[in-house]
Amino acid sequence: MILARRLSKERPNDGILLNACCPGWVRTDMAGPKAPKSPEEGAITPVYLALLPPGAAEPHGKFVSDKEALSMILARRLSKERPNDGILLNACCPGWVRTDMAGPKAPKSPEEGAITPVYLALLPPGAAEPHGKFVSDKEMSTRVAVVTGGNKGLGLAIVRALCGQFQGDVYLTARDYGRGQEAVEALAKEGLKSFFQQLDIDDLSSITTAAAFFREKYGGVDVLINNAGIAFKNADTTPFAVQAEVTLKTNFFSTRDVLTHFLPLVKAGGRVVNVSSFVGVRTLNGCSPELQQRFRSPELGEEQLLALMQSFVEQAQRGEHLQNGWPQTAYGVSKTGLTALSMILARRLSKERPNDGILLNACCPGWVGTEMGGSSAPKSPEEGAITPVYLALLPPGAAEPHGKFVSDKEVQTW
Ligand SMILES: NC(=O)c1ccc[n+]([C@@H]2O[C@H](COP(=O)([O-])OP(=O)(O)OC[C@H]3O[C@@H](n4cnc5c(N)ncnc54)[C@H](OP(=O)(O)O)[C@@H]3O)[C@@H](O)[C@H]2O)c1
Repeated sequence: MILARRLSKERPNDGILLNACCPGWVRTDMAGPKAPKSPEEGAITPVYLALLPPGAAEPHGKFVSDKEALSMILARRLSKERPNDGILLNACCPGWVRTDMAGPKAPKSPEEGAITPVYLALLPPGAAEPHGKFVSDKEMSTRVAVVTGGNKGLGLAIVRALCGQFQGDVYLTARDYGRGQEAVEALAKEGLKSFFQQLDIDDLSSITTAAAFFREKYGGVDVLINNAGIAFKNADTTPFAVQAEVTLKTNFFSTRDVLTHFLPLVKAGGRVVNVSSFVGVRTLNGCSPELQQRFRSPELGEEQLLALMQSFVEQAQRGEHLQNGWPQTAYGVSKTGLTALSMILARRLSKERPNDGILLNACCPGWVGTEMGGSSAPKSPEEGAITPVYLALLPPGAAEPHGKFVSDKEVQTW
């Protein structure tokens, strides 16, 4: 364990895994003929550890028992032989629990010890992870909040507020490693502890890497705030066709990619906040009656919405968006789409995970003095963070708001 810790510290990017293991009680000269396992059976755990697949991050610095290794091997066999059955098989550690076995000094009650096994037993239908993992009690019970575009502006103010108010680990994510690390260090100077994870929402592999990281380390996420976004300045002379494509890519399609990969990871009781804008509502009101009706329809599905947003981009490229009922604002349309998407995904969550109590909302932070909002904006980033943070910290058991557009902590008409 000492050597594994040193490897992690000194060669953090080398992906070396170092573990100790127990082969079980094996019939060898050392253990004698009464041992229940053959040498072949005893070899299973060491060989399993020697052949952990490339890219695996765990186990590392662990003592792996033969039972644990066997769980992992069996999980792999299940995936191979019954790939469509969705069975999840994991090993776990309940922590050190006050039972007859561990004695009265153990810090955890049996109820606390039950948390990780019960969490694994009740993974929601359709969940694909964790599977074939060793799930430790510590990480599973640490709550985690993730903010996209956290290195500056509103995102940084949201991270700062969460550091003070969220009970758990707060992740500042950013597309640029240096800018993200700098922001984490700046918060540290204020006495606030945050963690960094690279996440460029325009890069699918960055999204899947980050999702895998949170799944492996924490078993999912508790709070996700989709804050990352872009806007062309009014004075920008980039052709509207390009502005439409680029703006919708980040604000709508890439944010949707994050949601696609992270929503299955959101734990029961989780909170998801999509930072949209009042501009999206104003834009909706400026659309043709037919478009308004489609956006507001409770029947609108995700695929239909994607097609609608794609049609805006294509019509803008042909210079036909105005005649097809769209207003002249790429940013506005991107946020109309994000709010509509939030409503669709909230409806789906209610249908597919009705007992998980997850609340998903879109919001407007107000007009905020950031690089995007400019210096005339009336709200500071800290004031802008109030509504997103309020939605991220809705108390356990709250049933509302869900699938709403919220501003100044109030549900707004859509
Ligand atoms: N400011 C306002 O008045 C206002 C009003 C309503 C809604 N909003 C919304 O609030 C959110 C934050 O805006 P802001 O005012 O704080 O803007 P900002 O100061 O320009 O910050 C935008 C953040 O998003 C990040 N970002 C952009 N593209 C990204 C990508 N592909 N992957 C990851 N991060 C990316 C930026 O990272 P880089 O530093 O690397 O560029 C930056 O951290 C946006 O969604 C915006 O639409 C703002």
